[in-house]
Amino acid sequence: MNPAPYASRREHLRTKMQHGIAVIPSAPEVVRNADAHYDYRYDSHFYYLTGFAEPEAVLILVAGDKPQSLLFCREKNAEREIWDGFRFGVAAARDEFGFDAAYPIAQLDEKLIELMGNQPVLFYPVGRNATWDARLLRLREAVKARSRNGIRAPHEIRDICDALGEMRLIKDTHELDIMRRAAHISCAAHRRAMRFTRAGQHEYEVEAELLHEFCRHGARHPAYTSIVAGGANACTLHYVGNDAPLRDGDLLLIDAGCELDGYASDITRTFPVSGSFNAAQKDVYEIVLAAQYAAIAAARPGRHWNDPHDAALRILAQGFIDLKLCQGSVDSVLESESYKQFYMHRTGHWLGMDVHDVGEYKIGGQWRKLEPGMTLTIEPGCYIRPADNVPRELWNIGIRIEDDALITASGNEVLTQDAPKTVNDIEELMRHE
Ligand code: GLY
Ligand code: MN
Ligand code: MN
Repeated sequence: MNPAPYASRREHLRTKMQHGIAVIPSAPEVVRNADAHYDYRYDSHFYYLTGFAEPEAVLILVAGDKPQSLLFCREKNAEREIWDGFRFGVAAARDEFGFDAAYPIAQLDEKLIELMGNQPVLFYPVGRNATWDARLLRLREAVKARSRNGIRAPHEIRDICDALGEMRLIKDTHELDIMRRAAHISCAAHRRAMRFTRAGQHEYEVEAELLHEFCRHGARHPAYTSIVAGGANACTLHYVGNDAPLRDGDLLLIDAGCELDGYASDITRTFPVSGSFNAAQKDVYEIVLAAQYAAIAAARPGRHWNDPHDAALRILAQGFIDLKLCQGSVDSVLESESYKQFYMHRTGHWLGMDVHDVGEYKIGGQWRKLEPGMTLTIEPGCYIRPADNVPRELWNIGIRIEDDALITASGNEVLTQDAPKTVNDIEELMRHE
């Protein structure tokens, strides 16, 4: 554990706060059923600032003349550790993770009442968790009750998420190293799925191959529920049933990425179950791929967030006209939005600790400019449901091609280029294995 990147983020955040106190809790454990819990996932803001993965933990930052970084966490507990495993405890957490001080979580309320005293601003993730909203308001009232001792409660409450969102939007070298590794593992999983897939298997058998590949590289969890969608299922954007048999002649759309040390990867590939695209599938595929290349070319520093989307849309609109899915000119298809029958989502999103990561898309009402250090997905698609206005041979073709990109000083770096996506590369990989 190298605490340095986390300490420097805490310092950066304190600088942005200028003064006041910030309370940043980790996530609660969540019951799945009876006494079984979902796998624990820490809060992304909390982990970004601490690197501390245990539940029941809260970070306190004090900005201003006497800056402090404090952790509240579980105490050592020999009995619980026999059942549940190691926990750092207060002293080791302070030393290993580089806090000025650490305290038992049970002391949080009492200490917070002291720490909030005479702080002008209370920062926390406002409105994200009703229990925390109520708790912090109650503690602030408890500080007010001390006013006869000359102690003032914070007179302002501000959402810490805005500042954290802007920080997390620009990835540092420590984060990029993890994201490159996560992308690398996910590419290997997609290649594995392509090699494995055969007609007659079920979607969940391919899902198992993805999870196997993630896990064997230390990425124990997918960053989101994997979509393994054969044939018509690919036209359901958030299909996660993953239980249908795969049929010769169908395409298989896989949207899957691992989470590694808190960072997501997010890749979609679409390939033929049989190993060979038929003519209609290939026609649609080449259009989506061309749209994706155009979007990638537009993802450069200085360009606006929406430019990759607009670039993809123009190619898709022309393609839909060529396929007789849309009528008119590219401009009229864009103007009337008739393309939305076949392409109804946007071309990407910020990517980071959360698969749909934090950070604003518009500043002052305008799409923001892309800057080095931003990471985003580029994921055009085409989803053709049966309809009277659709040529029969195109029915139920659903295709998306999604890569993860880092904006660099000179353009971009595609982090997920090891997952094949040209028709030739896919057919070649599926032929040789
Ligand atoms: N896998 C979620 C997305 O592509 O946005
Ligand atoms: Mn995806
Ligand atoms: Mn995505």
